[in-house]
Amino acid sequence: MTSNSAFIGYFSTTGRVLHEPCRSKIRILYSSSFVSLQRCVLPKLLLFTGKQRISASGETVVVFGGSGRLGRRVVGELIKQNYRVAAGGRNVERTKQVVQERIDNVQQSNLVEFFECNVAERANWFQKWSPDNVKAVVAVIGASGSSILDFTQPYKIDYLGNKKLIDATRAWNPNCPFILITSLGTGKPFTGFPAALLNLYGGILYWKRKSERYLIQSGLPFTIIRPGGLERAKDDFGVDHKVRLYPANSQFSGSVSRLQVAQVIADAISNPYLSRGKIVEVIALYGAKEIPLQDQWKRITV
Ligand SMILES: NC(=O)c1ccc[n+]([C@@H]2O[C@H](COP(=O)([O-])OP(=O)(O)OC[C@H]3O[C@@H](n4cnc5c(N)ncnc54)[C@H](OP(=O)(O)O)[C@@H]3O)[C@@H](O)[C@H]2O)c1
Repeated sequence: MTSNSAFIGYFSTTGRVLHEPCRSKIRILYSSSFVSLQRCVLPKLLLFTGKQRISASGETVVVFGGSGRLGRRVVGELIKQNYRVAAGGRNVERTKQVVQERIDNVQQSNLVEFFECNVAERANWFQKWSPDNVKAVVAVIGASGSSILDFTQPYKIDYLGNKKLIDATRAWNPNCPFILITSLGTGKPFTGFPAALLNLYGGILYWKRKSERYLIQSGLPFTIIRPGGLERAKDDFGVDHKVRLYPANSQFSGSVSRLQVAQVIADAISNPYLSRGKIVEVIALYGAKEIPLQDQWKRITV
């Protein structure tokens, strides 16, 4: 989808606390076994014991659409935060290549694994992971610019594709947090102008809304992130445009960079107690003051 340039629109760094992914496990510890603590805390501690040593948290985030322009940035941000990441793309070699461009060093690249994922095909994507070790699933697939002339793509990818990912996740682990990326305007696909203009491309907002509803009804713990226009803002957009999170159905124009959205996604994963059950609309505002994402999540109600 390329037509979001109709939007006008800001983000900042996440300020994530490195230990945050462990907190949920530590809370659960009171009702589960000590094994969780060993799995989660001990590797984290190792992180600080050696010079320049990077040790994975032991938790994996599965990113469907890791080859995409937003998806590869999500992978990059998660790795910086020391998660293990499984990046899915239709073409594994191409996915490796674009993800490597977002990675700083060999230690980081050891944290990524790649898998083939075409939502048009049947596959058992989750076979290789234990539900215990997966922190979240991120769905950042979308009808691509390359298929802009095929008006059935939004139905096939943004709806049926996401539906398939939701079904597969739920069948594998009904408690796995699922982060779905849709778009500004998704809540009001026919009236929320100017964003609603995007619907001219195969009813894309309508189909994205159907996938949002499907996720909400699935019972999976979810977070839905609706970014503003991504085409105008480059990775340096955050220098003078600061990210804002807004409640559902409040924003219908605005831009934000893919890097900023990737940081919001990583923050949502690291702070499930702040992001769970929420729909947020994300844009970046020129000249605005930086506000920590965690403070912004707190202001969004479920
Ligand atoms: N562009 C905007 O201004 C804008 C604004 C708001 C929201 N969004 C949404 O944000 C998301 C990411 O946008 P983007 O611009 O980063 O998109 P993108 O670069 O076009 O990436 C799309 C991703 O979807 C994957 N995909 C497409 N068909 C697939 C299939 N059959 N099976 C599996 N994966 C498939 C692509 O994989 P391949 O690499 O294999 O093609 C790619 O990883 C999309 O949902 C988009 O609608 C975009």
